Amino acid sequence: MSSGSQPSASGAAIPDEVYGDSIFDHGRDTEVSRLSALTEELDPVTWQCLQAVGVAAHWHCLELGAGTGTVSERLARVCHQGSVLATDLDLTYLPPPDDTNLTVRRHDVTAEDLPTESFDLIHARYLLCHLRERNQVLRKVVSWLKPGGWLLLEEPAQFPITSSPHSAYHTVSMGIFSVLAERIGTDCHWARHLPQSMAAAGLTEIGVHVTSSLVGGDRPMSRFWRLTLEQLAPHIVDGGHATAAQVREVATQLADAGFHDLGMATVSVWGRKEEMP
Ligand SMILES: C[S@@+](CC[C@H](N)C(=O)[O-])C[C@H]1O[C@@H](n2cnc3c(N)ncnc32)[C@H](O)[C@@H]1O
Repeated sequence: MSSGSQPSASGAAIPDEVYGDSIFDHGRDTEVSRLSALTEELDPVTWQCLQAVGVAAHWHCLELGAGTGTVSERLARVCHQGSVLATDLDLTYLPPPDDTNLTVRRHDVTAEDLPTESFDLIHARYLLCHLRERNQVLRKVVSWLKPGGWLLLEEPAQFPITSSPHSAYHTVSMGIFSVLAERIGTDCHWARHLPQSMAAAGLTEIGVHVTSSLVGGDRPMSRFWRLTLEQLAPHIVDGGHATAAQVREVATQLADAGFHDLGMATVSVWGRKEEMP
């Protein structure tokens, strides 16, 4: 566990906090609801993308940062002649070990390795944006794919919020992005570069699906963003990114079924490691 900042050689502060140290700690009362809202919004999208890739029953799959494990559990049912390894820094919300083809393992993707050329499919959603080492991690993950194997990465992108016509929603949401960038190094612009980054990492047959989500009322992306705001509100106000009144206004808007705006986009990109000649 780490927190706070260290001075760099230039004297600038380098944050040493990572996802889960304090922000998005799985021990928080509302964290499972926040991640479940994400699952409700995005699992259908993930399955649409996996159908485009064409998952086969004999595949050996890896899910990184598996969260609540819903994608891994379904993958394990589909790949009933193969296997699924679900990994995360924190296993609190993942199913306990059993004798099925689903294995759950604590694994820090920034620090630990896995055997090269072992998986037919690797999936990660809303993970690499939060890792400062995201470009190295991408290259490492590609090395774990078998020749012919597929990588599906799904990451949030802030561009629909950057152009929001609602002033308070825009200001407060930009505050969320700033706090996440300052505290844990999150980059919600990175997804915009993913097709090129995955091609540069050596993948071919690149495909993409971009999802827009509505916020306002009880919609899942609205719940996800409201619970994210609830956690980050003190940092947003203390950091001068928005006023307490703006934060209250946006919390009310996000709970209001009559409020309509776009939440973050989700950029899903898949690509294939070339077969041996
Ligand atoms: C925003 S959640 C997304 C969960 C899930 N992928 C989903 O989309 O529903 C990010 C997940 O990545 C995990 N995580 C964060 N840093 C990690 C790391 N360095 N290695 C492995 N998992 C990590 C977190 O514990 C959390 O479960």
